[in-house]
Amino acid sequence: MLVKHLTLSHFRNHTATDQPLQSGVNLFLGPNGQGKTNFVEAIAYLSTLSSHRVSGYQPLIQHDQPQSIIRALVGHEDRDVLVELELNRDTPNRARINKSPAPRVRDVLGVLHAVVFAPEDLDIVKKDPSNRRVFIDTLVVQVWPRFAGVYSDYDRVLKQRNTLLRTARQTGTRGSALSTLDAWDDQMVRLGAEIVTARLDLIERLRPFLTKAYQDIAIANNEPTIMVRSSLVGAQVLDEEEELPYLSFTERAAVETMYREKLASVKPKELERGITLIGPHRDDLVLLLGGKPAKLFASHGESWSYALALRLASMQLLREETRTGDPILILDDVFAELDAGRRNRLAELVADNEQVLITAAVAEDVPESLKAKQFFVEDGVIVRGE
Ligand SMILES: Nc1ncnc2c1ncn2[C@@H]1O[C@H](COP(=O)(O)OP(=O)(O)O)[C@@H](O)[C@H]1O
Ligand SMILES: [Mg+2]
Repeated sequence: MLVKHLTLSHFRNHTATDQPLQSGVNLFLGPNGQGKTNFVEAIAYLSTLSSHRVSGYQPLIQHDQPQSIIRALVGHEDRDVLVELELNRDTPNRARINKSPAPRVRDVLGVLHAVVFAPEDLDIVKKDPSNRRVFIDTLVVQVWPRFAGVYSDYDRVLKQRNTLLRTARQTGTRGSALSTLDAWDDQMVRLGAEIVTARLDLIERLRPFLTKAYQDIAIANNEPTIMVRSSLVGAQVLDEEEELPYLSFTERAAVETMYREKLASVKPKELERGITLIGPHRDDLVLLLGGKPAKLFASHGESWSYALALRLASMQLLREETRTGDPILILDDVFAELDAGRRNRLAELVADNEQVLITAAVAEDVPESLKAKQFFVEDGVIVRGE
């Protein structure tokens, strides 16, 4: 697929950008802080309803403006789809697909698939679990858009359950609070087990693509593998610094049973602390390289290769699991950070993709083979393309 045309209104520093794009490589050049990343971020946002730079959408709306609009004409093999998102500072966001209002904003998920690779992706390999949860959960929603609803229901149940636990702790009205808690437990187990199972399932599907992508980009025989560490395993509640045990089986019913049992056993502790102590919001992925956790042992170069391989594998997976062709690949400011070998191998790997959007401060950082169509960005305006 490709974005044929992108229109931005009051999106970050793009006050009124109206830009046709072409298939193949589109290269956005310009000094720092001009609005290159903002432009590609808008496309990424349509794809996942999240940004690779911030959580929430408020920062995307131009300062002192009530509303921002992103409109993309997306070309699929056999048809075009016009998708439009209205981000509102004070009222609910809205979406339109082919000019008809969508019942829910999340109905736009699945129209456009984009995969972003950016320097921030090193955090997936090197930093705390939340980065890895965001990675896997974003991909789950891209592959199975109905999961957007499952995640938002889980978050709501988690919040309400936490409020209840806090109240029970403060007021000591444990008797009545406990029976209400049982109802929330049921929902939490059902939704949480769905999430845990989907993550395991997706990791399984990602596995062959990850191995291949890592070998392509790093030219090394080190095998990357992803494992899940889960708060649902074992009898104990572990502190956040302690390592959770591995979870390996995938049957949803089995996950539910395990979840229910552990929840029963940790309930006294939850009531004591006033917070939900187990569930997918506490779990982590371990990225192994040659059997060792990359977080602890991978060199800088290996970490880059790993992060890049995760994104390339995500692309392959989306291509395989959805019926909309190549996802749009966004390479945001990454060439300056890669050594010559990785640069050239990356260029080779992405050259055939239907559409690739690249940002860079200067053209010299970008391999020759990717210098097809160039756009120059200045202060939120695409001043010329050549
Ligand atoms: N909500 C916003 N409203 C107006 N300007 C914004 C907003 N968010 C970011 N900016 C501006 O966008 C610029 C950064 O754009 P960015 O796309 O990240 O630059 P780059 O070209 O380096 O990728 C900064 O000048 C920043 O102040
Ligand atoms: Mg940038």
